[in-house]
Amino acid sequence: MRRDTTLYLYELAWMLPSVALPVGMLAALLVTAFAAHIHLPGDTGRIDPAKVTETAPFNQLGVVETAPGRYEARILAGIWFFTPPEIRVPEGSEVTFVATSKDVIHGFFLPHGDVNAMLIPGQVTRITTRFHTPGEYPFLCHEYCGIAHHTMAGKVVVEPRP
Ligand code: CUA
Repeated sequence: MRRDTTLYLYELAWMLPSVALPVGMLAALLVTAFAAHIHLPGDTGRIDPAKVTETAPFNQLGVVETAPGRYEARILAGIWFFTPPEIRVPEGSEVTFVATSKDVIHGFFLPHGDVNAMLIPGQVTRITTRFHTPGEYPFLCHEYCGIAHHTMAGKVVVEPRP
């Protein structure tokens, strides 16, 4: 009798986590999708990679001030350059990087501000961060894109306010 009860408790000890884990994962999925609004990019950011230099906003590359203290940095990736390779903004700016690739898959990794994205031909990547301190913040391609992949880099120069 006693042995049977012990076996039953062992069984229960394994059954409970095996139910709780998938239920917990499902709950986490629902919370991130509906409460935190974290989801895959939709169709809104599509672009024809063959016509990227004629299509807004990539027909005007570089930094544009969209509101006081807010900037949009339009960057085009191609083997093996970022255009433009240098972004200049004043300190305290909020910068939205709008970027895509005109040829193969590239990466956009800017360790300051936790920017880590893929640049996929045909898809527009948008990612926002803020630069509080003046200085130089390098960014680089971190998706292998060919023979000169390791040279593909650029930088954000944050200038002190006068
Ligand atoms: Cu572009 Cu690696």
